Amino acid sequence: MPKIGVLSSGGDCPGINAVIHAVVKKAILDYNLEIVGFLDGFEGLVENKWRELQYNDVSGIMPLGGTILGTSNKADPFRYPVYREDHLELLDLSSQAVDNYRKSGIQALICIGGDGTFHIASRLMELGLNVVGVPKTIDNDLNGTDLTFGFDSAVSIVTEAIDRLHTTAQSHHRVMVVEVMGRYAGWIALQGGIAGGGDVILIPEIPFKIKQVCDFIQKRIESGKRFSIVVVAEGSRPEGGDLVVQKVVQESHDQIRLGGISYVVGREIEELTKLETRVVILGHLQRGGSPTAFDRVLASRFGAKAVELVVEGQFGYFPGLRGEEIIPVPMAQAIDSLKTIPLDSPLLGLARSMGTFLGEE
Ligand code: F6P
Repeated sequence: MPKIGVLSSGGDCPGINAVIHAVVKKAILDYNLEIVGFLDGFEGLVENKWRELQYNDVSGIMPLGGTILGTSNKADPFRYPVYREDHLELLDLSSQAVDNYRKSGIQALICIGGDGTFHIASRLMELGLNVVGVPKTIDNDLNGTDLTFGFDSAVSIVTEAIDRLHTTAQSHHRVMVVEVMGRYAGWIALQGGIAGGGDVILIPEIPFKIKQVCDFIQKRIESGKRFSIVVVAEGSRPEGGDLVVQKVVQESHDQIRLGGISYVVGREIEELTKLETRVVILGHLQRGGSPTAFDRVLASRFGAKAVELVVEGQFGYFPGLRGEEIIPVPMAQAIDSLKTIPLDSPLLGLARSMGTFLGEE
């Protein structure tokens, strides 16, 4: 019986288990394949940690957040972190990963991940592995697909958080600054901000002018609105200013961890407007918990299509969403550049026409 492998790599997000669920069921029911799951992303491939996945192993996992296989955003076989007593070494253990792939007897590997995962997967393909990707990230910043799964769930969490912040902001007549994830793209901030009715939305694609943000908030006060909600993407920055970096993770593919711009924005708003201001960073809450129905369906469609791509031998591709359709997309398309919000996006127009300030006028 032919055998395939599956792993989840990079940051987790709601919907990974829905992909695994679809991969295992489709592979068994439609193609009678055997499946093994490598544990903790590429760490499982390098260190030969895996488990068999039978049909019953995936029953009931669809609503679960996280990933039953575990993940890692550090375990790159080409720069594999080895922790010595007093220092960190990054070793090329890609040949060990290739050996383990061969020993496991699989004919192809499905890699659920984002741009970092696809980059590693492509390099492993050059060493002879058969790989198919599945596009995952709450950030929705992968080129080649209209949406990634996990994004809708994150936006729902942000929306609920903004709804809750509204009532407390209103009661205390405060400015609430809420920081959301998204790396260098503002998709979560923009869509969560629109859905939650944010008064100001700051995104990486439009560097903001703090003076103008404060003027906007003042005008709201003058018009009788005694509170404001400011949604800030972690990757946003003032015009001519820098990103706020929370930490550098040396062993990670993307070493920069953003975070903290909301404190800068909150402090300046309080200083300039004299309005009482509070800051909330939603952080990893946006990645936890059960996927939305939309993400469960999208993740299942991606998982099922990934199995088809394996069976058809379309290696080096991932299933992407284009309109209503799921189509094969070369992984290279999602590696070279990130999908940020185009400045002519109708969503920006929508936000503006609902009176939301985007920090730039
Ligand atoms: O890419 C997903 C993401 O959640 C980003 O939005 C965020 O910047 C980053 O991962 C956080 O990474 P970590 O889990 O390593 O803190």
